[in-house]
Amino acid sequence: MIEARHTFDRAPTYDGDLFAHEALQNPFPHYAAIRDLAPVVRLRNPNVLAIGRYADVRKALQSPAILISGKGIGFNDFVNRPVPEPGILTSDGERHRKLRAALMQQLSPTGLRPIREMLRRMIDEQVERFTDAGTFDGIAEIARRLPLGAISKLVGLPEEDRVKMLRWAAASFNVVGVIERDGAIIPALADDLDAATEVRDYLATLDPSTLRPGSWAADQFEQVRSGGMTIGDARSSIRAFVLPSLDTTIYAMGNLLYNLARNPDQYQLLRRDSSLISSAVFEGVRLSAVVRWFSRVAVEDYVADEVFIPEGERVMLLYGSANCDPRRYTNPDAFDVTRNPVDQLGWGAGPHLCAGMNLARMEMEVLLEALVQRVARIEVDEPTLGVNRGLFGFDMLPMRMTSA
Ligand code: HEM
Repeated sequence: MIEARHTFDRAPTYDGDLFAHEALQNPFPHYAAIRDLAPVVRLRNPNVLAIGRYADVRKALQSPAILISGKGIGFNDFVNRPVPEPGILTSDGERHRKLRAALMQQLSPTGLRPIREMLRRMIDEQVERFTDAGTFDGIAEIARRLPLGAISKLVGLPEEDRVKMLRWAAASFNVVGVIERDGAIIPALADDLDAATEVRDYLATLDPSTLRPGSWAADQFEQVRSGGMTIGDARSSIRAFVLPSLDTTIYAMGNLLYNLARNPDQYQLLRRDSSLISSAVFEGVRLSAVVRWFSRVAVEDYVADEVFIPEGERVMLLYGSANCDPRRYTNPDAFDVTRNPVDQLGWGAGPHLCAGMNLARMEMEVLLEALVQRVARIEVDEPTLGVNRGLFGFDMLPMRMTSA
C-alpha cells in the first residue's frame, strides 16, 4: 500500500496532447510513450490520470466496485453530468445489471441467430456489386452496409428518423472527449453537442405506435406495458441499441479491410482456411483501436500492482493502447489472422464488456465470409483519417476488389 502511494506520488506527467488533431489521427506513438513512461501517468488536458498497459487496463475494467461508471465515463462536465435515469454505460450495480439483462435478450448469440442469413444476403449483394467495379469508398459502400442496414431494420425506428442515426452516433462519441479550449466550446463540436441534445429529446418524445411491430425498440415498450420496465429504461435501451452500434462497427470494418489489403499474405491465408475468420475478427478489433478510451472515477483508493488511483480521481483507460502493448502481445503492430486474441480489450472487459459484441462479431464474420468466397484480391489507397474524439478510424477508404 505504502509503495503504491509512492508510485502515485511519482506519477509522471505526460506532456503530449491526446486530443490534438494529429494525435487523434495517429494516437499510436502517444500510446507507446505513455506505456513506457509509467503504469499511471498524469495528463494535463484533461487533468486526469491515465493507464495504458494491457494488464493494468484489464484489472481496472474488472474492478467496478471501486472504479465506477456512474460518475460518467467521458472527459467533460457535459457528458459526465448526473441524469435522473442513467443508461447502461453510466450505471453500476443492480441498475446496470437490470438494463443489461433487458438488452441481452436481443443481443445474445441465441437472440441474434435468426438474423445471420439476413446479414449475409445484405453483404453478398454489396460485395457482388462492387467487385471488379474500379475504385470506390470502402467505408461508404462496404463498412457502413451492415451496421446501418441491420440496426435500421432491427431497432425499428420510423423510416424518416433512421437517416439521423449516423449523425447521432458519431456525435455521441465525439462529445465524450475534451470539448473546450481556453474556456470556450471548440466551435467544430457545437453541432455535435446539438445532436446529443437532439437524440435525448427525440427519445423522450418517441411514440411507441410509430415503431415497427416486433422490432427491438417495440419490444422494449412491450416490456413497459407488461410491467417489467419503466419508460425511462426502455428509452435507455433504445439509445443503447443505436448510439454505440454504428460508427464502432463501421470503423472496425474499415480498419479490417485496410489490414487485409495491406497484408495480402494474411488475406490469402483466410481464403485458404475460412476457419480462421473468427480469429481474424478478434485480431482486427485488437489492432484497430476503435474505442480509444473511456474513464472511471475511484470511489475509494484503488490499488493494483503498481497502479494507485486515489479516491475521487478520474482515470482514463486507454483500450487502444492496451491492445498494442508488447508486454502482452508479441509483435503487437503486426496483423496476424492466426493470433486469435480473444482476451483483447477492444470490446472492453468486466461487467461493461460490449453488449453488442456478438452482433459486431457476426457482422464482421459475414463480411469476411462473403469476401473470401468472391474476392481474390483487395487493394487500398491512402485512407482519410478520422478525428472523432472517442473513436479511431477512417472516414474514407479508397479501395478495389478483384473477383476470384
Ligand atoms: C466493433 C464494434 C464495437 C466496438 C469496438 C465496441 C466497443 C465497446 C467498448 C470498448 C465498450 C465498453 C465500455 C466501457 O468499458 O465502459 C462497449 C460497451 C457497449 N457497447 Fe459496444 N462496441 C462495438 C459494437 C457495438 C454494437 C454493435 C452495439 C449494439 C448493438 C454495442 C453496444 C454497446 C453497449 C450497449 C455497451 C454498454 C455495455 C455496458 O455498459 O454494460 N456495441 N462497446
